[in-house]
Order: sequence, then structure tokens, then C-alpha cells
Amino acid sequence: MANNLLEGKRGVIFGALDEKSIAWKIAERCAEQGAKLTLTNAPVALRFGELDKLAEKLNATIIPADATSEEDLENLFVKSQEILGGKLDFVLHSIGMSLNVRKKRDYTDLNYDYMLKTFDISAISFHKMMQSLWKLDAMAEGGSILALTYIAAQRVFPDYNEMAESKSLLESFARSFGYHWAVKNKVRVNTVSQSPTMTTAGSGVKGFDVFFDYADKMSPLGNASAESCADYCVCLFSDFTRMVTMQNLYNDGGFSNMGMNPALLDL
Ligand SMILES: NC(=O)c1ccc[n+]([C@@H]2O[C@H](COP(=O)([O-])OP(=O)(O)OC[C@H]3O[C@@H](n4cnc5c(N)ncnc54)[C@H](O)[C@@H]3O)[C@@H](O)[C@H]2O)c1
Repeated sequence: MANNLLEGKRGVIFGALDEKSIAWKIAERCAEQGAKLTLTNAPVALRFGELDKLAEKLNATIIPADATSEEDLENLFVKSQEILGGKLDFVLHSIGMSLNVRKKRDYTDLNYDYMLKTFDISAISFHKMMQSLWKLDAMAEGGSILALTYIAAQRVFPDYNEMAESKSLLESFARSFGYHWAVKNKVRVNTVSQSPTMTTAGSGVKGFDVFFDYADKMSPLGNASAESCADYCVCLFSDFTRMVTMQNLYNDGGFSNMGMNPALLDL
């Protein structure tokens, strides 16, 4: 499927840790479609992840950045423009981490220092990223900014814990900052709400395997894979979606509009 939808475009991809990462598949697909990329992740993730392999394959430069550090973000976007040769056409935020989930704290017994750190990593980093791009005037006219999210922002999925509020905040930043970007230079800002996907972050959620099967049966098209998410993101980075902004868009096989699916009933 090489249609060169992103030919000549420059992009920055956050959050590819290993081959299972959704951002990994998105980076591969963007490169296949003709984009030039820089790749970034937190310095600690670069030590135990496999981003080197992806960078080699795509002939892309890695620029380490902790997404909660304004200084790191500024350095990332300044260097990316230098390396790629101009302003950026697209940026992907694919970052999520909950300290309370990691420390196995129940929703009714949360540690608030952990919670603030979770919000900083998983949601406020999106605002920091956009504010850094804004101050550097680093986005090209009509560019596209995306973040990955989950339907727990709208509905209750008890084991998703404080990540539910993180995703609500993330989606709100997309709407609010999306307004300013649209007025400034027609840059679009959207979130893609993805099906459960077998990745390092996904598998951290309690009972994920069973839930993955439940969502797969509930969705008329089945769970959307990371590869299908990559296809959708390419489309949203391309010039074919220039009037789509401030939206939360579902890539979920129909899950979000289902009430009951007979496939789940054992009558
Ligand atoms: N896997 C799922 O079921 C699923 C479903 C819907 C949405 N999502 C979202 O997709 C995105 C990507 O997650 P994934 O499932 O590919 O898992 P993943 O574990 O492969 O990716 C999460 C990434 O966040 C990065 N990260 C963590 N802290 C960081 C920091 N301080 N600075 C920079 N990067 C940092 C990690 O290094 C990792 O690369 C997340 O936003 C996640 O919430 C995942």
C-alpha cells in the first residue's frame, strides 16, 4: 500500500518502545508513505527498549526526550527541524503510564503524588508538547497533531484506574489547543481512541487478556489492530483530512456504539 500519502512531509513520533508499540507501527507506515521522521522516547525507555532497531530500519534519527520536560521538548523540536530540513507537518503523542497502576493501587486507595505524575506523563505532556511547538513556531501550515486515547475517558472501565481521568484530560487538551492551532495556521489536533491492543502499556491493565477478548466479541468488526491504527493515523496526517480537527475519533471496530452484542450471550 505505497500511495505516498505523506510524501515530502516531516514528522516526529513519540512513544515507540518495542515492536508491539502502536507508535512503532505508525512510524513504519508513515515512512512507507513517504514521510521523513525523527523518533523520540524517554531516556530511560531508550535503555531497555528497542528503538535503535526501528531507527535503523527507517533511517531516522533518535532524539531522547522526557515528555514531561519542557527543556527536552524544546531541544527535540529544534533538532527535528534541523535534521528534517524545515517545519513539522505532523506529530504523534503515543505516551501513557500510570504510577498507581504500576504500584497496584486500587482506584479507592490512590496515592495523589503518583496521580499527579501520571497526569503529567500521560496528559499534561500533550499540552507541553503543543506549547513547545507553538512557542518555536515549529508546525507547518495545515499540519496535523495526534494523540492516542481510550474510551475509558467517556465510559467506566474499572480496571483502567486513574488512566481514565488522564485520557479525559488529554482529549480536552486536543479540543482546547485545537482551537488555537486552527486559528493560528490551520493545524489540526485530534485524538484517536483505539481498541485494546497487546502492548507493554496495554498489558499493564489488570485482567487485560480477558478484557481484550470481551472487546473483540463486542465489536462488530473485532478489535482494531495496531496496524489499522497506523493506517488511520496516516490518513489523519495526510492532506485528505484537512478539515478534521478538535475531534475524538474512534478506531475501535464499532465498540463505542454497541450496547449489547448477541455474540457475547451464551443462551
Ligand atoms: N494498548 C492499548 O490497549 C491502548 C488502547 C488505547 C490507547 N492506547 C494508548 O496508546 C498509546 C501508546 O501505548 P502502547 O499501547 O503502544 O504502549 P507502549 O508501552 O508501547 O507505549 C507507551 C510509551 O510511552 C512512553 N513513555 C512513558 N513515559 C514517558 C515519558 N515520561 N516521556 C516520553 N515517553 C514516555 C514509553 O516509553 C512507551 O514508549 C498510549 O497513549 C496508550 O494509552 C493504548
